[in-house]
Amino acid sequence: MTSANSTLYQHVEENGRTYHAYKSGSDSHFFSIAVPPNCRFVVEDAEDDWEHDDKFSYIHARAVLSCFADPSVVIRKAFNALEPGGYIEFQDHMAPFEFVEPPPEDSALAQWNQLSIEASIKGGRPWNNSKNYARWMREAGFVDVEEHKVWVPCGTFVEDPKLRKMGLYHVTNMMQGIDGMTTRNLSRLGWKPEESKVLAARAIAELREGRVKPFNFILAVWGRKPS
Ligand SMILES: C[S@@+](CC[C@H](N)C(=O)[O-])C[C@H]1O[C@@H](n2cnc3c(N)ncnc32)[C@H](O)[C@@H]1O
Repeated sequence: MTSANSTLYQHVEENGRTYHAYKSGSDSHFFSIAVPPNCRFVVEDAEDDWEHDDKFSYIHARAVLSCFADPSVVIRKAFNALEPGGYIEFQDHMAPFEFVEPPPEDSALAQWNQLSIEASIKGGRPWNNSKNYARWMREAGFVDVEEHKVWVPCGTFVEDPKLRKMGLYHVTNMMQGIDGMTTRNLSRLGWKPEESKVLAARAIAELREGRVKPFNFILAVWGRKPS
């Protein structure tokens, strides 16, 4: 186990971006935050063995679709780490993007969309696994598994005010995130950083200009360990 106060601020740099340096750095920074006495932060790799003295009552993971080689293994580890009656919940969007209308033939976002999934599969951490969470929870032994699915536009091309606002948040998030999700991932398909950066910039411009109408389903999936 690694204490959060020693490692939270460690990063390594690659292609002009910084990545967290968990497992690769040395202790150097001090971290302090006011938390309740029964709250403790630890930095661990969820794919490693889960060695905790106490069982958990609730295990939550959000936006982890790019994180695990095999999420079903992490779900099984979570099952073992929960107390009887404890809950697991995963929240993620379903990648890749789908489109309300077919994107233009030369769409950079459509190309980015397809290549990103291909590259993530080649890299051993497929981005398109969230559709399997409910099945994997049932297979791990969870009961009362429920999948709650919300349709979210990636852009402001819808009339409904609430969906429009959600679409604005989603597209803003993607416009800020695409660059960081691209260079390392597409290198697995032999793309050079400068080629990836151009594709990412073109995809972001299409989102900004509303040239494409993408959407995702956002999933919340939860289940209970039998008592
Ligand atoms: C996209 S961020 C989501 C952060 C936060 N859950 C949220 O929803 O705002 C993905 C997070 O997963 C963490 N992560 C990636 N691989 C992991 C692993 N193998 N074990 C545990 N955490 C991991 C990253 O450090 C990062 O904090």
